[in-house]
Amino acid sequence: MSIEIRSADSFPSNAVGSISNLAARVYGPDVLLPLSTLEMWHARAKRIFWTAWSDCNLIGYLTVLPLSDAGFAKTLRDDFDEKQLFPIEIVAYSREAPNHLFFSSIVVDPSSHGAANISRLLRRQFAHDILAMITDGFSFDRISAEALNERGAAMVESLGMDYLLDTRAGSKIFCGPLSSEALLRSVEKLDAKIRG
Ligand SMILES: CC(C)(COP(=O)(O)OP(=O)(O)OC[C@H]1O[C@@H](n2cnc3c(N)ncnc32)[C@H](O)[C@@H]1OP(=O)(O)O)[C@@H](O)C(=O)NCCC(=O)NCCS
Repeated sequence: MSIEIRSADSFPSNAVGSISNLAARVYGPDVLLPLSTLEMWHARAKRIFWTAWSDCNLIGYLTVLPLSDAGFAKTLRDDFDEKQLFPIEIVAYSREAPNHLFFSSIVVDPSSHGAANISRLLRRQFAHDILAMITDGFSFDRISAEALNERGAAMVESLGMDYLLDTRAGSKIFCGPLSSEALLRSVEKLDAKIRG
């Protein structure tokens, strides 16, 4: 299978519907976000979707949101619910102050789970791109995530996040630094796994 990984800055803006369709194939109604929420997020901060494509079909994606201080603080609470993030809490990447990121989702088409390193390639591209932004003068503080299952936890641990707390809804909150050192470690480990 030939796979093309696209950075968030080359996401085709007419493909938010494809993200929503792929999400609907793996997430139940309790956690599935409406297309209108994804569209609102994308309108607020363009660079949020890293994507994997095969023959022009979307086969995987990773969503990361830059958040305001208040939005990021919400993600670290045991009552966190990403559906409750306010539009104003999704912010564009800024050079003026350290950026805080929330790792919202990673999905691989069910027919390709475990195959072709798709989630590893997505995670590596994300870490690589944040490193490039640091070189380009952006600064980053921390990244958090809500892991819904063991695979989700493995995904965010590979990006240097550690378990922080259980939510009342039964998911697990993870958090970690976004330093160049931490990102380089993640890229090296993912590279080693991709090479096999
Ligand atoms: C999460 C997901 C993207 C991973 O896809 P994938 O990497 O193609 O393939 P797998 O599902 O086989 O997962 C393999 C990875 O999970 C880890 N893993 C698999 N089963 C695991 C388990 N039971 N416990 C802990 N880790 C596990 C493996 O160590 C491997 O990690 P690595 O790539 O860092 O070495 C995919 O399973 C998916 O789309 N799931 C549905 C959506 C979802 O639940 N997303 C996470 C929500 S927080």
